[in-house]
Amino acid sequence: MSDGRPLAAIVLAAGLGTRMRSAKTKVLHEIGGEPMVARALRAIAALEPDLIITVVGHQAEAVEEAIRRTVPNRQLRFGLQAEQRGTGDAARVALGELPAGFNGDILIGYGDTPRLNPSTLAAFRDAHHAQGGGLAFISVEVPNPDGYGRVVRNGAGDVERIVEHRDASAAERTINEINTGIYLADATLLREALAALSNDNAQREFYLTDIVGIARGCGARVTAWCANDPTQFEGINNREELARMNQELRTLRIRALMEAGVTFVDPATAYVADTVVIGPDTVVGPNVQILGDSKIGSGVVIEGTAWLRDVAIGDRCHLKICVRAEECTIGEDSDVGPFANLRSGTELAGHNRIGNFVETKKARIGRGTKASHLSYLGDAVIGSETNIGCGVITVNYDGYDKHVTAIGDRCMVGCDTQLVAPVTVGNDVYVASGTTILKDVEDGALALSHHPQREKPGWTAGWHRRHKERPKKN
Ligand code: UD1
Ligand code: CA
Repeated sequence: MSDGRPLAAIVLAAGLGTRMRSAKTKVLHEIGGEPMVARALRAIAALEPDLIITVVGHQAEAVEEAIRRTVPNRQLRFGLQAEQRGTGDAARVALGELPAGFNGDILIGYGDTPRLNPSTLAAFRDAHHAQGGGLAFISVEVPNPDGYGRVVRNGAGDVERIVEHRDASAAERTINEINTGIYLADATLLREALAALSNDNAQREFYLTDIVGIARGCGARVTAWCANDPTQFEGINNREELARMNQELRTLRIRALMEAGVTFVDPATAYVADTVVIGPDTVVGPNVQILGDSKIGSGVVIEGTAWLRDVAIGDRCHLKICVRAEECTIGEDSDVGPFANLRSGTELAGHNRIGNFVETKKARIGRGTKASHLSYLGDAVIGSETNIGCGVITVNYDGYDKHVTAIGDRCMVGCDTQLVAPVTVGNDVYVASGTTILKDVEDGALALSHHPQREKPGWTAGWHRRHKERPKKN
């Protein structure tokens, strides 16, 4: 809210985006590792609207879910536009979700403009209020206006209307000032203008752009706020634009991180989502993707070839080559990898070592505990300063349910131990190598399930002799 005036936002995201040539709806294609609609939504949510209404159509449920995930703490509503009959029709659908008594400003934008900047939107709103309200939209001047709606002004320089490219005359097509598709309007005026739309145009669609001429005709105040950076309003229409924007945003993001003190060994092969935070003096090696809500501390070394999503990595951790980690916490001063797979729900308290070919899942592992080689630790709660030997496996799944293995502090779990869950191993326990733990082990005990070793002296020579004396087969 600003000036105490309520604000509702409308996001148009129902179109399939035919030129993507995809079964997946356009706004779900990813920019920086997240659906592009997430970025537009965050920029709009930064204005703190009282309500955000998104118009969905193609893959409505998936789009809705992506939005709920992006701005979970917002007041959200969704309007279903089953048939895409134009941007004006979409806006009407959105109004249907707006409480009838709503009396304030309505911001309208698109779900496919990932570079939208919140500070631009705030400046636009302030200018709109300073003008005394009515209807405003953002325009920009571009060298090649092909395909866009043109802003038609009268002799005095006031906005008359917007004309779509397909409906424009040759003279109108020479206009370089275009409509970005972002509007701000007084709710009452918008309701009236939308009610007056017709689809009498080249595309037989209800054009949202026609509200400009309509509002003008009613004598309302109409302004075009001409922004100076056109790149912010660029939409994505095809895969080439998607790739280009991904590349541009990635370059900008990595440059900003470098300015903030992060080293990139090879910026060309680093992929870091905008939502990611990285502390200074962290080194990111080649071929690394850091996505989602990841937070990387300072002085961290990521050697290279890593895929990290929604991870929290503490200061001074060292990720050796080839680590995959998702939805997990790696406490400070830990060493992980090479070749480690930290799955969802892994929590390392700090000062840990997770070595090569170790897989963890829902594993809470205490401070200083190590699992250096070839282990599976799933549904496990392990104390601190415990050593998990090479080849230790939690047997967590019985074909129906997953069960928990608990291991205490300061244990030595010998190599090649299997722990058949549910099972609890106390503190200060030694487990002999090769043991199958089937029952709980009390504090301080040695657990072993060895069969006594048998030995047959001279057996090998006899084995070879018997084979040599045997008649040869063919
Ligand atoms: C629109 C504007 C044009 C402007 C341009 C800027 C109109 C008529 N034209 O054209 O003046 O220069 O954006 O990019 O508004 N959508 C729906 N339902 C529909 C139709 C569209 O939700 O029935 C959504 C789309 O998913 C998309 C957005 O609205 O996110 C814009 O639609 P699009 O078809 O891309 O409009 P343009 O032809 O680009
Ligand atoms: Ca478009």
